[in-house]
Amino acid sequence: MPPFATNICALVCLCSLVQVSDQLSVDFYSKSCPKLEQLVFSVASQRFKEAPVSGPSTIRLFFHDCFVDGCDASILISGRGTEREAFDNRNLAVEAFETVNRAKAVVEANCPGVVSCADILAIAARDFVHLAGGPNYPVMKGRRDGTISLASRVRNNMPRPNSTVDELLRLFSSKGLNKSDLVALSGAHTIGFVHCDQFVNRLYDFHHTKQPDPSMEPRLLKALRMTCPPAGGNTDVVAPCDVMTPFTFDHMYYGNLEAKMGILATDQALFLDPRTKELVQMLGKDKVRFFQAFSQGMEKMGVIGIKVGKLGEIRKNCSRHN
Ligand code: HEM
Repeated sequence: MPPFATNICALVCLCSLVQVSDQLSVDFYSKSCPKLEQLVFSVASQRFKEAPVSGPSTIRLFFHDCFVDGCDASILISGRGTEREAFDNRNLAVEAFETVNRAKAVVEANCPGVVSCADILAIAARDFVHLAGGPNYPVMKGRRDGTISLASRVRNNMPRPNSTVDELLRLFSSKGLNKSDLVALSGAHTIGFVHCDQFVNRLYDFHHTKQPDPSMEPRLLKALRMTCPPAGGNTDVVAPCDVMTPFTFDHMYYGNLEAKMGILATDQALFLDPRTKELVQMLGKDKVRFFQAFSQGMEKMGVIGIKVGKLGEIRKNCSRHN
């Protein structure tokens, strides 16, 4: 491609990016629903007490929504063949869906027909980050809800627990997220839980070697083997994503990776790969920097594929199209 064509393309792409995310703003609902943030926070903080699993699961729900055809609440639609039904979404906790539905009900009672489910999910995810001890970053709003939700779109748009760093970098880059965003956003694994089937191969038969993953700390390996048998175990059993401080949103996740105590192969790989190792070390040393990088990553992730203006709809019920 001749140089001028590259430049024109860069300019056009940049303009369309600026235009779409320009239509979002922190005070989008300042006239139509001035108490929106308080309303969502009241539900999130109640859920955080009643059903603590709502916190990590809602943060994860936001990620799964954004990566598959944009942050448009398409993940919330229930019914056969929807995103929610896809194999890679099988472990998304019902508590997360329940949290968004409850917040929507409260918001609808105060400002009917105005606020999208996509924005409520983005705000709730931020609230849970903050409630768990993480940063309280501003959330841009003005997204509209998508009218399409297809299970078939999930597989190629989500990372897997055994993805390589190459695959992660490629996938994140296809969403407009760079290497630093990958490392910072993976820091969400500072809270929450992982089912045994997502990492059991590391304990007994890593890469079909019949040996455990040599990059796992031996005491952690022993403890996880007691929790997760090679076969026939209870499929509901989980291990904490951050074995040191599983309930606190802090930068311990990165320290764990340096100590060979990452749970998912993809987590540990961020420390093993020379392209991401330094970033892990940097965020492991500096909580303030992690909070800044995470907030920025969430803002960037939060504008992936958004629908604004006349696109999409404002759903009345988050689980159903209007
Ligand atoms: C980098 C690629 C990623 C991979 C391969 C990955 C994979 C996973 C897996 C396999 C689980 C455990 C699910 C289960 O067994 O229930 C999990 C949990 C979780 N993930 Fe990720 N994830 C990634 C990135 C992210 C990002 C970017 C976020 C949010 C910004 C995130 C937030 C979470 C949270 C909070 C949990 C805990 C969920 C809970 O306790 O219910 N993850 N992730």
